[in-house]
Amino acid sequence: MKGNEKLLTVLNSLLADELTAINQYMVHSEMCENWGYNKLHLDIRKQAMDEMRHAEWLIERIIFFDSAPTVSKLNTIKIGKTVSEMIGNDNNDELDAIRSYNDAIKLARQVDDQGTVDLLTMILKMEEGHVDWAEIQRAQIDQMGIENYLANQSKGVTT
Ligand SMILES: [Fe+2]
Ligand SMILES: [Fe+2]
Repeated sequence: MKGNEKLLTVLNSLLADELTAINQYMVHSEMCENWGYNKLHLDIRKQAMDEMRHAEWLIERIIFFDSAPTVSKLNTIKIGKTVSEMIGNDNNDELDAIRSYNDAIKLARQVDDQGTVDLLTMILKMEEGHVDWAEIQRAQIDQMGIENYLANQSKGVTT
């Protein structure tokens, strides 16, 4: 089925965001594992997997519209040097993602594409969950201090 050109450009831009997030989160997750913060490692790894599903769904949708997904484009990857920096960078990117998905949903509505509205809404809700997670971490760091927070993160099973 032929898709709206403007919407396809936006879907490809969202795909680049997702592919960027996958890489950023995989690196953050592995850095946490290297430091022995296993809980954080698993939490961030799970988010990388969520972003992979988003990328998969966007690719599926673009192909459904008989178009070729752009999978070779990445935005700037922002690797944090410390856990606080990582969570801060990820939180900002997730807030950007929420803005981008809301804008894309508006456009999909304008071109009467309810299927894309539904897909993007499902992804948006997951991004809101990611922001919620990052805000919880930042609140805990503020309240208990980074040392206590990190002590909690080093518990859990090694993968
Ligand atoms: Fe995502
Ligand atoms: Fe996300």
